[in-house]
Amino acid sequence: MMTPATIDPLHTPLCDLLGCEVPVLLAGMGGVARWELAAAVAEAGGYATLGMVREDPALIESEVTALRAATDRPFAVNLIPSATDPALLEAQIRCCLDLGIGAFSFFWDVMPEVIARVKQAGCLVLHQVGTRQAAAEAEQAGVDVLIVQGVEAGGHVHGREAGLDLAVGVHAVSRLPVVIAGGISTGDDLAAALRAGLDGVQCGTAFLATGESFAHDYHKTRVTAATGDDTVLTDVFVLNWPKGAAVRVIGNSVTDALDGRLFGHDPATLPRDAIAWDGDAPRLRFSTDSPLRTTTGDMEAMALFAGQGAGRINDIPPAGVRLRDMAEAARRILAQG
Ligand SMILES: Cc1cc2nc3c(=O)[nH]c(=O)nc-3n(C[C@H](O)[C@H](O)[C@H](O)COP(=O)(O)O)c2cc1C
Repeated sequence: MMTPATIDPLHTPLCDLLGCEVPVLLAGMGGVARWELAAAVAEAGGYATLGMVREDPALIESEVTALRAATDRPFAVNLIPSATDPALLEAQIRCCLDLGIGAFSFFWDVMPEVIARVKQAGCLVLHQVGTRQAAAEAEQAGVDVLIVQGVEAGGHVHGREAGLDLAVGVHAVSRLPVVIAGGISTGDDLAAALRAGLDGVQCGTAFLATGESFAHDYHKTRVTAATGDDTVLTDVFVLNWPKGAAVRVIGNSVTDALDGRLFGHDPATLPRDAIAWDGDAPRLRFSTDSPLRTTTGDMEAMALFAGQGAGRINDIPPAGVRLRDMAEAARRILAQG
């Protein structure tokens, strides 16, 4: 019998669960993964996530409405429960449930009560984790899909283990579909993940550097020029996050000035000076804001999030082209046996 997998080696059971054609997930990048990028990824056959961390419910509603007007494919909304003020989180979740959102993608520390609430509402829950312990907690709390993030990842980095080792280790002890995130940029990376028995990949940086992403062109261009070695892991971009929360960024004047002291920075004592603006909103040096289409000011000194796969990202194509190229290359590699 012909099953989807015999027709297309990329069609894993995860595709049936999520309602996509290829097991490539758009990471829910805050600020960057807005409706235009999400629509492009979904229309090209991937699985889209709207990055809505700490966003006002009014923006969530307008983004969801615009995304639904652009595609009828399923998608998730990304929130970070443990890093969001409880009143805002409550308003975000209520807004999403009122809008009939069918899937959530959560990140950072596992909050079982939040997972239980949206599961009770009938939603699918994907949870990104960076440690074996958090993977076990998320599974115990009832999530449907584990996204296992390696230390190679751009943006906030939850654990310190290399992605493939961690994801394969989690896969061995879990009954859930396991998606790997961190440094995944090419068809080789996708094929390697599937060959290792994983169910799919999640990409952030590779989709940041595309035409539809809401990142500022300065950020996109810096990604295309960077090598994996140009990225650094640091906790200096930590204003409004818990002390010790690490991010992977392209090294810049801020990280250079640390003289190697990449860790140990305290959000309570870091200075708060505005270096850029989004409309009326100041963007502070040492904050986790990255430059968006709407940002003006000193973008070089902002958090230029990028994963270690940046060295293999050399252009800024439409997101659908990035996804199809990755899928085609992976099919060729997998066909070689
Ligand atoms: C610009 C940027 C913003 C991010 N923001 C979020 C976020 O808001 N929520 C989230 O769950 N993950 C976020 N991440 C992390 C991604 O989910 C994912 O782990 C990461 O992009 C994978 O590594 P890669 O960038 O090398 O593909 C972000 C990553 C980047 C690059």
